[in-house]
Amino acid sequence: MRSANWFGKKGKDGVIYRSWFKKQGIPSFELESGKPVIGICNTWSEYTPCNSHFRQLAESVKHGIYEAGGLPVEFPVMSLGETLIKPTAMLYRNLVSMDVEESIRANPMDGVVLLCGCDKTTPSLVMGACSVDLPTIVVSGGPMLTGKFRGQSISTSDVWRFSDAYRSGNLSNDHLKAAENGLCRSDGHCGVMGTASTMACMVESLGLSLPANAAVPATDTARKVLAHLSGMRIVEMVKEDLRMSKILTRKAFENAIMANAAIGGSTNFVVHLLAIAGRIGVELHLDDFDAFSRNIPLLANLQPSGKYFMEDFYYAGGLPAVLRQLLPKLHRDALTVNGKSIGANNEQAECYNEDVVATIEKPFNQQSGIAVLHGNLCEQGAILKPSAATPALMKHKGKAVVFETIEDYKARIDDPSLNIDETSVMILKNVGPKGYPGMPEVGNMGLPPKLLSKGITDMVRISDGRMSGTGFGTVVLHASPEAAAGGNFAVVQTGDLIELDVEKRLLQLHVSETELAQRKANWKPLPPVSDRGFVGMYIQTVEQADKGADLNFLKGGSGSEVTRDSH
Ligand code: FES
Repeated sequence: MRSANWFGKKGKDGVIYRSWFKKQGIPSFELESGKPVIGICNTWSEYTPCNSHFRQLAESVKHGIYEAGGLPVEFPVMSLGETLIKPTAMLYRNLVSMDVEESIRANPMDGVVLLCGCDKTTPSLVMGACSVDLPTIVVSGGPMLTGKFRGQSISTSDVWRFSDAYRSGNLSNDHLKAAENGLCRSDGHCGVMGTASTMACMVESLGLSLPANAAVPATDTARKVLAHLSGMRIVEMVKEDLRMSKILTRKAFENAIMANAAIGGSTNFVVHLLAIAGRIGVELHLDDFDAFSRNIPLLANLQPSGKYFMEDFYYAGGLPAVLRQLLPKLHRDALTVNGKSIGANNEQAECYNEDVVATIEKPFNQQSGIAVLHGNLCEQGAILKPSAATPALMKHKGKAVVFETIEDYKARIDDPSLNIDETSVMILKNVGPKGYPGMPEVGNMGLPPKLLSKGITDMVRISDGRMSGTGFGTVVLHASPEAAAGGNFAVVQTGDLIELDVEKRLLQLHVSETELAQRKANWKPLPPVSDRGFVGMYIQTVEQADKGADLNFLKGGSGSEVTRDSH
């Protein structure tokens, strides 16, 4: 056991390692027995309301670890509360991954349980753990119960609808405030197929969690049982030396892409999966997301692409019901944390409501997954989620209305004299990884009130930023290279003609090469927000979105070995 390099030592070092640890009421024989020490990486924080039940969840994990003969040790890492952290939680995803990686490697543990919930808490923990590559299992916190407001079921995606109705004068401030009470009904993360639920499905389809992890509500008894069983299983995984690298093969990543298409998962899936692949050393490219999702239909009728909520998804059979339908397309033999293949885990899965989970023969939509666009407006690529877009806008030509920054957008969008109509293409620059910095979720920028009040509900919008997993619309995201890195996106101007053709995967700026070269010669980047501390380091080293927006020096891993002692 790796932990024997601490607790099994003889002489002074062993005394120091054991003596201080025993202060927590752990008898000597526990530390000297050679039983697996399991770290529980906890993202509990009152600043992360979606993970506020994680102390109780950790207790269930501990019970399972004890029962299987292991020794649980809970440790905190930086936690990212999506709704509170400014300027954006994504700025700190890579920082948390460093915290996780170094905490795991530096401490006596033989296996790890990752407690993940709110959006970035999943990829950051998985990325960090990949760079150490110990036996690792993920336990997600589970989604909230469906909210209620004036007799209607609501959840996070309704924030965008309420906001548009308010801005167009169709909803009073009192009504908007009253809706607040129904949005977050219980413990858990957002109750639609937003980024947190997408991430929970991602770990399940990658094979990093026990089956059915993704959809069990946070408050359901089954969530605690799953945490208990995961605690039991990680002890066995240590004995089997079932490390992350044995599970996270290229096949697992391809399975995850196909599963994400079938559930209508968040566009944020792309940057997170690319970053995870980079850490574990699997070759994965932006175009793989298009290639492996192109023939996958939409099988889950969940908001924001569909009608239902995560609670309904659970009652309908959850992700196993979807994976069973997909099995003919998946790599059935991909290994998962329970030691069985994804095929064996899901071949008997039942669907209890075909209005929530469709059969592959009768999908909800043939359009699904992530469309990867290319063209001179995004030389390294951009993405769009067809299932959340308006079909009539998927082939569109229009004149650009450019907002140079998010502040520029906020200052002008409500101005009745803004020269814009429903055929315009809204462009938002400088919200990419370097430019903001941190690539915030502002890509689904609200429409101008003067068009909303005319009943316009969607327009083509293009940015170098991201969109909330709960968002929707004909929204082109992650344009790379971002404006702050130069390239054509940096020099697009109001009035330029832009062509979007999703069928052809084309995003083209109809401006001559000579004119573009001239504009680029005169282009100057905005001054960086900071040149010191983590933010300064982030701006200097973050990669573009098409590579996963990881810091360039964090790619790969350093294993779990530490050769020098601390005393
Ligand atoms: Fe935490 Fe949506 S805000 S999951």
